[in-house]
Amino acid sequence: MAEQKNILFETKDGILYLTISRESKLNALNFNTLEELKNIFNEVNDNRSIRGVIITGAGEKAFVAGADINEISELNELNARKFAEFGQEVFEIIESCHKPVVAVVNGYALGGGCELAIACHMRIATTNAKFGQPEVNLGLIPGYGGTQRLTHLIGRTKATEILMTGDMLDANEAKALGLLNHVEATKEEAIARAEEILKKIMSKAPLSIGMIVDCINAVFANDENGYQIEANSFARCVKSEDYREGTTAFLEKRKPNFKGE
Ligand code: COA
Repeated sequence: MAEQKNILFETKDGILYLTISRESKLNALNFNTLEELKNIFNEVNDNRSIRGVIITGAGEKAFVAGADINEISELNELNARKFAEFGQEVFEIIESCHKPVVAVVNGYALGGGCELAIACHMRIATTNAKFGQPEVNLGLIPGYGGTQRLTHLIGRTKATEILMTGDMLDANEAKALGLLNHVEATKEEAIARAEEILKKIMSKAPLSIGMIVDCINAVFANDENGYQIEANSFARCVKSEDYREGTTAFLEKRKPNFKGE
């Protein structure tokens, strides 16, 4: 994987650890950081040695405190549309990734940071996490899919309140609304919980995990029939070697050895 300027990465035991690393700006997402995310995720799907991803923010104070306000204070109508479409494209690549992606949310996840967290497949927060879409305070609205994903995730009633007031939620409030999978006291514990979940998923058939991503995403795609995608994916599973291995291992009373083929 090519070196990136704003995102630190390392791979250990099949997990790619990404750290958004602009700590002096509370890890705000500037254009270059978004582009780096895009490059990284384009590689994740093709790289067989990466089986899961954890995204977190550098330091203890913020996951990501939003899009970089220095960059979004000078937009015109044309480049504003491009700005939003590019962010939507990058977050859609993350949401569609065939490897499980977990956000470990330490501190502020605001604006584009909240949108990044909810584009990931799962979210584990620390008790000091704060979620919000404060764009209305800037005369803006979310542009990286936040109005859509937040509404899908927690329902219209609470999403409307959060998007219109710009209020922040703490970790327990966010968990109660279904925004989070787990809350842990510290970043270390949140990462350990993410690793525990990813290791369990990594012991399953990799092709099945990718198809589950496609089927869940189809629930929210207006132009797709999710039941049809489920049936097609189910049918594709039975052509895989892992299907033979999984069913045979069960009948032979042994653990399966999946290869992702
Ligand atoms: N874009 C660019 N810079 C940002 C940023 C953002 N989204 N969020 C924080 N920063 C910068 C601050 O400008 C400051 O930089 P400086 O030290 O060079 O002045 C630094 O990060 C630290 O932030 P600061 O505001 O001093 O910290 P705080 O603890 O007082 O407040 C927040 C923390 C998160 C409440 C506050 O930074 C904030 O409201 N950020 C903007 C959140 C937002 O509106 N996001 C949506 C953008 S679309």
